[in-house]
Amino acid sequence: MKNGLSRRHFLKLAGSTLLSLAAGCGFTAPPAVNGKLDEAARPVRKLARTLTGDTTLEARFIRQIVTHDNRVSRTVMWQSDDAQAGAEVAWRLAGNEDFSIAPATSERYTDDQQDAYLHTALLEPLVPGKTYEYRLLAGEQGSDWLPFATDSDAPFTCLIFPDSQCSDGYVTWREVAQDAVRRNPNAAFLISMGDLVDNGEDHNQWEQWFAGLDGVLSRLPLAPVMGNHETYTLDWQTRLPLAFLSLFSVPENGSAAFGRYYYSFDYGDVHFAVVNTQMNEIDDLRPGLLAEQLAWLPRDLAATTKKWKVVLMHRDVLRYGIHKRPDRKPGIDNLGRTFMPIFDEAGVDAVLTAHLHTYRDRGRLYDFRPADRGPLYILTGVAGNVRYPGLWVDHDFDKVIAPQPETDNYLTLDASPNELIFRCFLPDGTLIDEARLRK
Ligand SMILES: [Fe+2]
Ligand SMILES: [Fe+2]
Repeated sequence: MKNGLSRRHFLKLAGSTLLSLAAGCGFTAPPAVNGKLDEAARPVRKLARTLTGDTTLEARFIRQIVTHDNRVSRTVMWQSDDAQAGAEVAWRLAGNEDFSIAPATSERYTDDQQDAYLHTALLEPLVPGKTYEYRLLAGEQGSDWLPFATDSDAPFTCLIFPDSQCSDGYVTWREVAQDAVRRNPNAAFLISMGDLVDNGEDHNQWEQWFAGLDGVLSRLPLAPVMGNHETYTLDWQTRLPLAFLSLFSVPENGSAAFGRYYYSFDYGDVHFAVVNTQMNEIDDLRPGLLAEQLAWLPRDLAATTKKWKVVLMHRDVLRYGIHKRPDRKPGIDNLGRTFMPIFDEAGVDAVLTAHLHTYRDRGRLYDFRPADRGPLYILTGVAGNVRYPGLWVDHDFDKVIAPQPETDNYLTLDASPNELIFRCFLPDGTLIDEARLRK
């Protein structure tokens, strides 16, 4: 410190100054929290401004997560070794001095013999179409102010990443993700299609996965889809997806048994339904995931008033042949037999899948056949270094296949009032496919 005060002493002084400010300055009206006025949510003038510049808070993997309605709320999470009792998040309109405080829930999280604390705060109510800033706070310590923006119902672009599991320390994932973000500075949020990591219990892999998005998830929200690898133990048995569910506080779905296993959210004029395809892994541990979703999905898709409906699911709806296994016949997978009629009935516009580590645009399918109506089915590819060269036999429904042997790819979705445009790119920005839906 310039004046010779130690950092800690300075913080103490700043803290007591803040308390005086809080006691002496005029407060603006406290926001409602769960319908009640909450003392902890009371906006305080200038408190955070006094602390600007202090970035001593231990906060790893700061991330934003989508909420049901991204016009008016945003979830923020971070991790720490310290308990950080009383953790909270300050948020304000960009450029404003007044701010609000949202209390964070802090939970001890132990997995793969590693302890951490997970902190989660819901920032609401927000105003649609605004640029905001947020700052993590715990005791006398804070983070930088970080940017976020609310959905405005206007056209948007989002980034879509297929399977990102890696065996190279997630170097490939980092390059694909960071290049995609750099090439799309207007992206509003990210979708991850599942198999984020190769082993869902391996804490090193989760840390490497988050590190791959360094500087990204603190400013853009994520919509993660659960993949089968999120259910694997260190010795490759299956377990309930503890890490995935703990690390990503995605929107609730009202289920007692499978809370947040599947969910939906809106962005712009698009309703996204995130279907969980891990019945094979989860049924023996906790039965009923399919039955629940078969009740939920038609209801969820019927309830939306959004113009566009997009389904995100990890496993594919088609069955692909395997060159070395001529007995395996291509066709419609059981998952497709189950879900495609629901998509047809509900007027789903596009279905994005993953899991096979190959990019395939199958065009629109209706009643299990290529058609000029029905959803557009895109198998989204691979964004890590786990590749299956020469494995799959092309499917009769394939219209566009990534250049072989396949490397990595990512997608963009541009959503505007009358058009959805899905584009697939190689990491160097080469466009390999473009699919448009108009209505
Ligand atoms: Fe995968
Ligand atoms: Fe998978």
